[in-house]
Amino acid sequence: MKIFFVGDIFGNVGRRALAERLPSIIDANGIDACVGNGENVSGGRGMTKNLFRKLRKYGLNVITGGNHSFSVADNDYSFMEEPIVLRPLNYPPKNLGHGSTIFTLKDGRNIGVVNLMGRTFMHESLDCPFRMGLEEIKKLREQTPIILVDFHAEASSEKAALAFYVDGLASAVIGTHTHVQTADERILPGGTAFITDAGMTGPGSSIIGMKPEGVIKKYLLQTYVRFEPSEEGAMINGVIVDVDDNSGKAVSISRVFERVTFKGQFSDD
Ligand SMILES: [Fe+2]
Repeated sequence: MKIFFVGDIFGNVGRRALAERLPSIIDANGIDACVGNGENVSGGRGMTKNLFRKLRKYGLNVITGGNHSFSVADNDYSFMEEPIVLRPLNYPPKNLGHGSTIFTLKDGRNIGVVNLMGRTFMHESLDCPFRMGLEEIKKLREQTPIILVDFHAEASSEKAALAFYVDGLASAVIGTHTHVQTADERILPGGTAFITDAGMTGPGSSIIGMKPEGVIKKYLLQTYVRFEPSEEGAMINGVIVDVDDNSGKAVSISRVFERVTFKGQFSDD
C-alpha cells in the first residue's frame, strides 16, 4: 500500500496548495491512501468543522492533529467525533474525539493510524506517548498490519526514540509539528519507516508559516504579538511510504517537497 502523508497543512496557502496538487500527486505516484496533519489549517491554529470537510473533499482519508487540535475560537469540536479525524491519543481522555482509527480503502484493505503528541519542550503533563502508543499499535495490529503513526513533537530525539521503540510494529512513524522537513528519512532495522519531520504544506516564505515581522518583533520585545499567516512561497511537503500489505513492513520512504505557483483566484465553497 502506498501512503502519502501530508506535512502540517498551514492556513489558506496550505489548503489551496493541497486542493490544487493532491490529485496529481495521487495519480503520479499510485497513492492508495492519504493522511495529513490538519491542526494548523485554520489560520495556523486549529481546524474548524468547515475546514475539516474541505480537507476531506480534497482527498485526505485521515486527518491528524496536535497541540492545536483544540485551538479554534468557535469551540465547536463536534466534528472530532468523526472516525477519520484524530487528536493526540495521549491527550486527557475526557477531551472529545479519539487518537486512532482504522480506515478501510475501497478495495477492502485497512490502514490503522495513530496520532500521538510529544512531551519534551511541549505539553509535559500529557500521558506517556511511548506506553500509550505501543499499546494502541498492538491493538490495531489485531485488525491490520499496516499502521502509520503521526508523532506530533518538538524534539528530534523524542521522535527518533518513539520510532525505534515501535520498530517492527508500526509501518511508519512520521514526525510533525516543527514545519521544517528533515532529510533523515530511513527504514529502521525492524522495518518501520521514519522521518523526524514531514515538513509543512503552506507558505514556505515564512517563519514556520507566519509572517517574519511579527515573530522577529516578539523575539525583540518579549511581549505578546499577534502573528499573521504568510501568503508567500506556497509548497507541499510530505512523504510517500510504500508498505508491504502482508507484513506491514515499509518497503520505501521518500520525501515530497514541491514549490507551488498559484494562478488566478481560488474558491472551494
Ligand atoms: Fe503543532
